[in-house]
Amino acid sequence: LERILIPGTNGVSKEIADSISRELLLKVCKPIYKVFPDGESYIRIPCDVKNKEAIVVQSFIQPQDKSFFEAILIGDALREGGASNSILIVPYMAYARQDKVFLEGEPISIRVIMETLRMLYKRLFVVEIHKEESLKYFGEGAVNISPYTYMARQLGLESSNVAVLSPDIGALNRAKTLSQFLKCSYDYLVKRRDKITGGITMEPKELDVNNKDIVIVDDIISTGGTIASASSILKKYGARHIHVLVAHAIMLGEAIDKLRKSGIDEIYAANTLPKKDGIKYVDIGPLIADYLSSYS
Ligand code: R5P
Repeated sequence: LERILIPGTNGVSKEIADSISRELLLKVCKPIYKVFPDGESYIRIPCDVKNKEAIVVQSFIQPQDKSFFEAILIGDALREGGASNSILIVPYMAYARQDKVFLEGEPISIRVIMETLRMLYKRLFVVEIHKEESLKYFGEGAVNISPYTYMARQLGLESSNVAVLSPDIGALNRAKTLSQFLKCSYDYLVKRRDKITGGITMEPKELDVNNKDIVIVDDIISTGGTIASASSILKKYGARHIHVLVAHAIMLGEAIDKLRKSGIDEIYAANTLPKKDGIKYVDIGPLIADYLSSYS
């Protein structure tokens, strides 16, 4: 089946699509995209996609609803054009944190997103979805791409006196996998988040981090509150350097200042979201390309 790569509607998606096409030498078809004066999106795929396997890259960046909706429009244009087995790559999957009803009356946002995508795409690749279990709503053909080991290798994060820390129980498996690659110990903190205000507190805990270089691993930095709290605790217990390895750096408001003040030396993120100052980015395109080759 001939493959054709379709970069999505935002800069992040285009950059990752470029990187994938370089790795896999794929033919690229750029969609024609505009916004009508009233705000509606217009999409056209100006290539013959009939009986081809179309690979769409669309990161659900802000405004998330629009990014998501454009992925649906592209999917439908491909269906109309007779493409077979369209694949969607979502470097950043928005709404993944609303994966259950926390307070009565809420939707399961990620479920309805997955169910909608499933109508248009045969296969879905997501870079580090908040919880891998959410892929079940898409059904067969959904794959999570965990980036931390790849990023650590690209960055040369191996060091003799390093330890990995997960800032909450949710990221424990991420920390475990990374620590296996770095051949070091790992630990975790217990975080509580107020369901109404979103404010967080960390349970007090002794940590064996004195004079160690720590890599904090998490899927998302949003306001920076989680990582800043973890970092302050690490500093208190004598951690030497603190590096943060995160898949998705949303970085709202004063996040970067908050993180610097808490004692963090360096923040590394995958290029799944628009770039912000003060962060070192790792291009995730080659890793996605590897997955695409092995699942062909
Ligand atoms: C939540 O469980 C996620 O894994 C992240 O820890 C969270 O989204 C980070 O948010 P913030 O930076 O606002 O603390």
